[in-house]
Amino acid sequence: MKKIPVIMDVDTGIDDAVALILAMQSDKLDIKGVTVVAGNQTLDKTLHNTLSVVDYFGRKDIPVAKGCDSPLVRAQYVDPATHGESGLGTAKLPQPSIQPHHLDAVTFLKETLENSEEKITLVPVGPLTNIALLLTCYPHVKEKIEKIVMMGGGAFEGNMNAVEEFNIFVDPEAAKIVFDSGVDIVMCGLDITMKSYTTWDDIMRLKATGTKAGDFCAEAFGVYYNRYVSNSRLPGCAVHDAVAVTYLLHPEWIKTEKGRVKVDIEGANSYGATVCDFRPCRDKSKDNALVCLDIDRDKFVDLLVRACESYK
Ligand code: RIB
Ligand code: CA
Repeated sequence: MKKIPVIMDVDTGIDDAVALILAMQSDKLDIKGVTVVAGNQTLDKTLHNTLSVVDYFGRKDIPVAKGCDSPLVRAQYVDPATHGESGLGTAKLPQPSIQPHHLDAVTFLKETLENSEEKITLVPVGPLTNIALLLTCYPHVKEKIEKIVMMGGGAFEGNMNAVEEFNIFVDPEAAKIVFDSGVDIVMCGLDITMKSYTTWDDIMRLKATGTKAGDFCAEAFGVYYNRYVSNSRLPGCAVHDAVAVTYLLHPEWIKTEKGRVKVDIEGANSYGATVCDFRPCRDKSKDNALVCLDIDRDKFVDLLVRACESYK
C-alpha cells in the first residue's frame, strides 16, 4: 500500500504529542519532517518537546525544523493553563539526543516540497504562521502540496471566545493567508475535535496498554483532563490534534461538508472567526475547504489505544 507523504507542523503541546505518537507508528504515513511553531508554549519549549517526543518514541529518522517564534501581527499568546509550564503537562521525557534540522522550518518546507517527486500533505496542528510564510514567500510550492489537513477553527464554536479557536486566535492573519491560498484544505475544527474526547476510563485504557506511550498519555492527560472537565461541557479531554491525523488514516470515520471558509480579520466581535458558508445557493466554485463535523468517537479512542499498544 502506498504511503501518504506528510509534513506535520506542531506547537507541542499535549495533544500535538498524541498526534505525533499516532502518526509516527502508522504504516500509512511517510513523515518527511516535523516543523515547529510557537503556540501552546514558547518556541523554545515547543521545539524541545517535539524533539523529545520524536526521539523518545523511536523516530530519530524524522527531521525536526525550528519555525516561527511569534505570530505575524498579534502579540505572542501561550497557554500554560491548558498545557502546563513545560507544554506537556506534568509528563517528563528524557532530554532529546537529537538536534533541530539545520534549515529553518519555512526553508525546510520549501526545499522538501521542491525536491519531492510526489505531492506532500501538510498537517499543521498549531498556529499557521510557518505555513502562511511558506505560501507567501514561495508560492510556487503550492503545486507540490496535495492538501492541508489542519486542526483549527470552528464552524459553530470557538474556545478562546465565542468565535475564535486557539490556533486561529494566536495568528488569524496567518490563517487568512492559508485559507485564501487556493490550496485544498481539510479543516478539523472544534466542531469535530470537541467530539473527539477521552474520558477518564479511556485514559485508563491507554495506561493499561503498559507501554511508554500509554504511560506518557496518562501522565500528560492528567492536568489536561481536569482542565476540560472543569471548564467545558465535555466528560473528558479533547484530543484535538490527533483528529487531523485520524482523518488521514480513516477518513471514513469522519462526517464532512464542503464549503467556503473565510477567516475574518476585520470584525470587532468576529476577528479570528473561521466563517463557514455551507449554503446550497453559495458560489460553490469558491469552495476552499472540507469541514469536518463529526467522528465515530469509539473508533477514534480505539485507534489511540492501538497506537499506544504499538509502542510495546
Ligand atoms: O484549540 C486546540 C488547538 O490549540 C490544539 O492544536 C492545541 O494543541 C492548541 O494548539
Ligand atoms: Ca496544537
